[in-house]
Amino acid sequence: MQSATDGSISGRAPGARRRPLAVVQGRQGLCALVREWQAAGQTVALVPTMGNLHAGHHRLVEYGQSAAHRTVVSVFVNPTQFGPGEDFSRYPRTLERDLRDLARLGVDLVYAPEAGDLYPFGTAEAVRIEVPGPSGPLCGAFRPGHFAGVAGVVLRLLLAVHPDLAIFGEKDYQQWTVIRRLVADLGFPVGIHRVPTVREPDGLAMSSRNQYLTDAERRRAPELYRTLLDLSRSLLSGRRDFQLLELEAGQRLAAAGLVPDYVAIRTEESLEPPDPLAGPEDWRLLAAVRLGATRLIDNVSAQAAGLQ
Ligand code: PAJ
Repeated sequence: MQSATDGSISGRAPGARRRPLAVVQGRQGLCALVREWQAAGQTVALVPTMGNLHAGHHRLVEYGQSAAHRTVVSVFVNPTQFGPGEDFSRYPRTLERDLRDLARLGVDLVYAPEAGDLYPFGTAEAVRIEVPGPSGPLCGAFRPGHFAGVAGVVLRLLLAVHPDLAIFGEKDYQQWTVIRRLVADLGFPVGIHRVPTVREPDGLAMSSRNQYLTDAERRRAPELYRTLLDLSRSLLSGRRDFQLLELEAGQRLAAAGLVPDYVAIRTEESLEPPDPLAGPEDWRLLAAVRLGATRLIDNVSAQAAGLQ
């Protein structure tokens, strides 16, 4: 669809800004609006999402609104970042509810394309973007092709919107490092910003995938965050036997019924194993587990326990 504005919903919250929310499905309409704003000297923030929005996404939107004049949210469940047998077909799609939330939050524009708008030649023949270094370890080793899919769609979104800044969540820490490398290596003129993870009261990082959990699994899930915090405590107390610490954390998760893909202590910049003689200031603790049919990821700074 190529019209500039395919739909319009009014904000409802009394305190929210009352600008109508524009919803576009086509790149052309998107460009027209964004160019108009930028020509008027306004800055534009992009928040890429796959929809099914929760408080974590909302925090990214609020960050955009505080950092730029206009905020664009994209909602697109990107097929190229899902592997065979992953949850692409059952990923929750709740566009109507998402649009109501975004209108209430006072977002200016939602880009909700069909796949053909982002992949005009289809996904099988799409140009592929590899980001070799930070895509390799951790989730990259367990989800081959995942970060190439993420990098590809984020680059397409950046080209379509041309925002001044784009905002990502710390929850997907490795994704953030991949995207930062992508734009640094290509010299793409956009600021990449990061927003801290929003958690449930019991510590579980908010995620669209949490709703796959059964009640029993949901009760066990916060053990992931607790284990990372205890790992942080061990590092702050001076332990530097990384491999044993990772092993112990993995065993603790497994004992709680969370099957670990990995638990890793890495440097924040490169995601490589850190030098034990350096300080923990730039270390990050990352883990991925399987809980029943659901894969959960989380990460904290190595100093997280000291900040509590
Ligand atoms: P999605 O999982 O919808 O997440 C969209 C953005 O919200 C990402 O930057 C993610 O890190 C952030 N986010 C998710 N949960 C969060 C939480 N609990 N706290 C803070 N931020 C959170 O990540 C993707 O979509 C896709 O890979 C995408 C970048 C859109 C490319 O398809």
